[in-house]
Amino acid sequence: MAAMRLETAPAQTGPMVPVMYEVLSRRRDLDDTFTLELAPVDSAIETPTMGQFNMLWAFGIGEAPISLAAIEDGRLFHTIRAVGSVTNALCAMSVGDHVGVRGPYGTGWDLQGAAGKDILVMAGGLGLAPVQPIITELFANREEYGRAALLMGARSPDALLYRDELEAWRARLDIEVEVTVDSAAPDWRGDVGVVTTLLPRVPFDPPTTRAFVCGPEVMMRFGARDLSELGVPLEEIFVSLERNMHCAVGHCGHCQLGAEFVCKDGPVLPWTVAEPLLRIRER
Ligand SMILES: Cc1cc2nc3c(=O)[nH]c(=O)nc-3n(C[C@H](O)[C@H](O)[C@H](O)COP(=O)(O)OP(=O)(O)OC[C@H]3O[C@@H](n4cnc5c(N)ncnc54)[C@H](O)[C@@H]3O)c2cc1C
Ligand code: FES
Repeated sequence: MAAMRLETAPAQTGPMVPVMYEVLSRRRDLDDTFTLELAPVDSAIETPTMGQFNMLWAFGIGEAPISLAAIEDGRLFHTIRAVGSVTNALCAMSVGDHVGVRGPYGTGWDLQGAAGKDILVMAGGLGLAPVQPIITELFANREEYGRAALLMGARSPDALLYRDELEAWRARLDIEVEVTVDSAAPDWRGDVGVVTTLLPRVPFDPPTTRAFVCGPEVMMRFGARDLSELGVPLEEIFVSLERNMHCAVGHCGHCQLGAEFVCKDGPVLPWTVAEPLLRIRER
């Protein structure tokens, strides 16, 4: 009988093959929301830019697009709300567990292109996670930009993401941080009202402002409307869209809205492009 030759198959690589990461820490942010810190096991994905997303694999269950919440020395931070099978499995992971990571995908927040302008960041609920890298970058290169403000809204005080970070950012004097909730018990000492009610509080020069808006669609719609009424040019208002995804590389058409693929032409888009897309029904 001829001797059988055993050969090792070459490692598979490519845009659809996840890279193995290990959970280094898991922080509970809210009742149903956790931040995972992930470190590469062997190789790493390309460094994501702010606003991009990764596909995170819970092996044996599936994968979901999750925005980059932060990056530090190659470690990825993703803040995840448990809403279904994949996100529940990701949120239930323990330190030492393995997660597959594909990415980074999509367009990012163009903060560098706004050098010299006033910067206005408006976030609603979990939308604070994808804009957190903007805040980090603003602090790192504060002298590059004009006035800067973060307006944050949540449904209730219990739904306020990153409370410690918000307090730390607020303590700094070089960026305005305003927080409001839609409704609260009488013991809440902060503001009550939708996030756009905070706009008159912060000084900015609308014609030379770039705005980054991230949150529920209705919030982005009202945010863009009010910013534009104040005089911020529509092409200077950027939003991040969420749509169901499969491939994340522009092949399957799952995320297609009109001529745009949210996975590769988005998720970050100027309002001039995003607004007509939001009128199209999701497949
Ligand atoms: C570009 C992009 C970036 C994203 N970034 C983040 C992020 O940083 N953190 C995060 O937690 N999520 C993020 N999401 C949403 C996340 O991908 C979905 O919540 C996830 O795919 C749901 O998968 P699942 O298998 O857990 O739930 P499924 O089993 O697919 O859905 C379970 C239930 O949840 C509902 N559902 C699905 N998606 C959402 C949603 N987005 N919000 C509320 N309910 C939903 C479904 O309608 C269904 O009723 C992002 C999505 C996109 C497209
Ligand atoms: S998710 Fe497949 S084309 Fe966008």
